[in-house]
Amino acid sequence: MKLIFFGPPGAGKGTIAQQILNKYKIIQISTGDMFRENIKNQTEIGVTAKEYIDKGELVPDEVTITMLKNRIENDDCKNGFILDGFPRNIPQAQALDNSDVEIDRVIYFTVPADLIIHRLSGRRSCKQCNKVYNINPDGFPNPKVENKCDVCNIDLFQRADDIPATIKDRLDIYREQTEPLAEYYEKQGKLKKVNADGEIQRIIDDTINAIEN
Ligand code: AP5
Ligand code: MG
Repeated sequence: MKLIFFGPPGAGKGTIAQQILNKYKIIQISTGDMFRENIKNQTEIGVTAKEYIDKGELVPDEVTITMLKNRIENDDCKNGFILDGFPRNIPQAQALDNSDVEIDRVIYFTVPADLIIHRLSGRRSCKQCNKVYNINPDGFPNPKVENKCDVCNIDLFQRADDIPATIKDRLDIYREQTEPLAEYYEKQGKLKKVNADGEIQRIIDDTINAIEN
């Protein structure tokens, strides 16, 4: 099973991916997580990526496409994967089409703009295990102890690109460059929409339904 999870920042791509990986015995490949890991380890990719991510812009295609293509050749991808945050523009989608990877479904998570800002301002993550939380009362999942990771028991941190000015830039870029992919995959007959505003279990059920039907 090879899937693309697509949708605006804060739609819940990463959160829903985490909830269905075990069911299909597949892995999640988040280009955003890969860039953050590279930034943490101060690699060449990390140094380049940081410059763009901090401004809410897309990392250049030549860096992103090469990194992704190398990643999907790993053995752990044999059973399938969810691409979370790739492709993010038409050239990236074309590069994927020109590789020998056949995507089964593209799940398009839709949410209203005001909810995006609300969710992203409440997002917190663990530096050690990368688990993502939300501190808003209506967020999922809330940490069991205020501002601590349930697993590692260390303080949670806020992503540098989750500040209001950068969120706005990310949304502008999303609308300009990423949203046109809906039409691109609609034409291929692969697009399935899921309303990502609401209770988590309903969204998981709708996602499974979109994958299987
Ligand atoms: P990336 O990390 O992919 O960020 P993004 O696409 O902006 O998406 P997010 O991770 O912000 O949102 P999400 O949909 O995963 O939401 P989440 O599940 O966390 O990319 C970061 C940057 O890297 C980009 O800006 C770009 O610079 C660069 N980059 C990455 N890929 C690239 C590419 N292909 N090309 C070029 N550059 C690239 O949920 C959000 C919050 O809401 C969480 O706190 C969660 O706990 C909570 N939540 C989720 N669902 C619910 C729910 N139903 N109810 C309550 N709370 C919920
Ligand atoms: Mg994410």
